[in-house]
Amino acid sequence: MAEAIIIDGKAIAAGLQQRVAATAAKLRDGRAITAGLAAVLIGDDPASQVYVRNKARACAAVGLASFEHRLPANARLPAILDVVGKLNADERVDGILVQLPLPSGIDPRRVIAAIDPTKDVDGFHPVNVGRLWSGEPGLVPCTPQGILLLLRAAKAQLAGAEAVVLGRSPIVGRPVAALLLAADCTVTMTHSKSRDLPGLCRRADIVVAALGRPQMVKGDWLKPGATVIDVGINRITTPGGVQLVGDVDFATARQVAGAITPVPGGVGPMTIACLLRNTLLAACRRRGLPDPEALSADVIKV
Ligand code: GUN
Repeated sequence: MAEAIIIDGKAIAAGLQQRVAATAAKLRDGRAITAGLAAVLIGDDPASQVYVRNKARACAAVGLASFEHRLPANARLPAILDVVGKLNADERVDGILVQLPLPSGIDPRRVIAAIDPTKDVDGFHPVNVGRLWSGEPGLVPCTPQGILLLLRAAKAQLAGAEAVVLGRSPIVGRPVAALLLAADCTVTMTHSKSRDLPGLCRRADIVVAALGRPQMVKGDWLKPGATVIDVGINRITTPGGVQLVGDVDFATARQVAGAITPVPGGVGPMTIACLLRNTLLAACRRRGLPDPEALSADVIKV
């Protein structure tokens, strides 16, 4: 069998980012609206600092305003809720993102619940989670959105397909299962207690691997021709140095899959493009404007 097609997340994300930029320009020139994204960063986790900086850069690249609020690692809940409350009331801010993980001792649910659901561009607020599962329009988490866009770009047949999701996190596994269900897949959710993961996987036309375990999914777990989306980002040390790998063993999986995302350059670049997309959608919806055609044409109906 031929090697799998590599799904180029970098190129697909760049296309979406261009449509976001064009839509942002239209809103600015036509309606004098500059959509804005506020990131709240608590503590000094190095990875989180990089993410927040990248988000600010991405906003600048597509013509969105960005705001950054930093709080010390020892900030207590009332101070955090105060910042969130001010951003909820700030008319320049259309999207609010509180960078996770929070310092220990702060319950992320309390913080997320305080965000205005119409500005919740992460899609983590219980109102948006409920909307997603009940098929009502809301804000959809970014990585799962990116996964659906990759599947559509790869022309994967979704209606009637068997989709197996590995991992049940609130950020990826659960919401991607809801989106696959909305796209008429037959969805199986699996997790660390599932029996016979390889056997469950082998049934799948579509595999979404979001377990957080380096190179766990092997080629012989896959049905020949399956579409494989690898959400993992793991740093491993090899004799050749530190290497970034996914949750899928790419070398064996690409021999069996029909199409597969690489790590890096697969799901990762889609997440930030979808965050920008959500910020524009939030900006329009809050003002009672319809979703811009260029952003809704790629069929994420929820
Ligand atoms: N930390 C890791 N992933 C995410 C994400 O998608 N959103 C936020 N806010 N923090 C994260």
